[in-house]
Amino acid sequence: MLPLQKILLVDDDAGLRKAIARTLTMAGHEVVQASNGQQALDYLSLHPIGLIISDVRMPQMHGIELFHRARKTHTNIPFIMMTGFADIIDAAEAIRLGVSDFIPKPFTTEKILSAVKKVFEVQNPSEQLVVGDRCQNVQDYSPIEIGNFISGSQISYPIYIKISESKFVMLAHQGEDLDVGRIETLRQKGMEYLYLKNDDFKSYVDFNLKISDSVAKSKNLSGEQKTLFFKNTSELILQYGFQNEISPTLFSAAQKTVEQTLSMISAEPKLFDLLDKLLTNSRTLYGHSLGVALITSLMANKMGWISSKSMYVVMTASLYHDIGLTKIPQACLQKTEEDMNDQERAQYQRHPIMSAEMLRTILKERAEQDSLATIVSQHHERSSGRGFPLGLSKDKTHPLARLIGVADYFLGITKGGDIKRGHCLPTKQAIKKIQEDRASYGGEFVDCLASLFE
Ligand SMILES: [Fe+2]
Ligand SMILES: [Fe+2]
Repeated sequence: MLPLQKILLVDDDAGLRKAIARTLTMAGHEVVQASNGQQALDYLSLHPIGLIISDVRMPQMHGIELFHRARKTHTNIPFIMMTGFADIIDAAEAIRLGVSDFIPKPFTTEKILSAVKKVFEVQNPSEQLVVGDRCQNVQDYSPIEIGNFISGSQISYPIYIKISESKFVMLAHQGEDLDVGRIETLRQKGMEYLYLKNDDFKSYVDFNLKISDSVAKSKNLSGEQKTLFFKNTSELILQYGFQNEISPTLFSAAQKTVEQTLSMISAEPKLFDLLDKLLTNSRTLYGHSLGVALITSLMANKMGWISSKSMYVVMTASLYHDIGLTKIPQACLQKTEEDMNDQERAQYQRHPIMSAEMLRTILKERAEQDSLATIVSQHHERSSGRGFPLGLSKDKTHPLARLIGVADYFLGITKGGDIKRGHCLPTKQAIKKIQEDRASYGGEFVDCLASLFE
């Protein structure tokens, strides 16, 4: 049982105030109610109070003003803010200034009682800052550009905002609907990133890919909307796969390249439809293709292949290298190559040719048609001659096909390769594995890949 503490509860909404007061009283607290800030200050000047709980948005006196004025005369008085979504940034600012805790609305009885309990339990309440979650290691949170939430989806994970270099505050509870209006409010207030716990972030990527399935199928979305979503997805995949492992400069350059390619593709209906096909067929395959495009973009940059033409070719080939897999039954693709029977393996090993044929049909009169088809058809060839479908030697394989081959294999064995299963090698181990078979992949590309993560 908690020690009896007098709580001053301030809210202009009489119904809500009474309900909260009842909850606190039933939990053993003594509660005094005030319907506005001035009334609260008047009471505080005459009576000892253990804690103030106040709404933020109130007529006459804003909750934050009440906090400042109360703290002038009662320096260490614990103060919990209750805030609606629109005021959350102001409330975050108040936390920086020393508010003990804040509870985003709508809240549950448990949430209020737990916040109150925490305040009364700590010896020095002014040192306790963050609601809900004590884990404040910046490495535990993953940033998501706020534009990623533009689709206004409901999200199954708690979302945090960063209020200082080492403090995060929960913005939305699990299952809460983060609609477009709320996101827009945050954007207008200058918020650029929202945060998820790392474990949730991993699941979120998968979730986002699932959503992108339905986006791709939607007939109501414009190409522009879809492209926006694709961009967002690519950003997520890059962040998920190689967060903190690649220099930020390289990282954003790669992101930009993929975005530009997707924008170009969105202007070409047939190419865009093909991308749509990839996404509709399998979110994992879509994620993989974006991942390969990102890694090849990083590698091509490192190799100095920065002309817009070569970048377009390598990006397009990367995005569509596995489009032929969309023609192969899922039952076959679920198996590893070793588990496939001869017929299935033969079918699988033809996918680079099928990718090339599909691209060729789309790109009929384009100048890049031949080189794109060649690159795509050779992405599983190996310098050792043990690749497929033709077992070409190094000098017969297009250099860009070898480049994509390295990125493709790397993605296939790292966490970025199969997000859903999440059982792939950590980056360093994956690179070591590729280095051990350096000759098969063409050493210069293996070295280039390794240099990205040094
Ligand atoms: Fe492939
Ligand atoms: Fe692939």
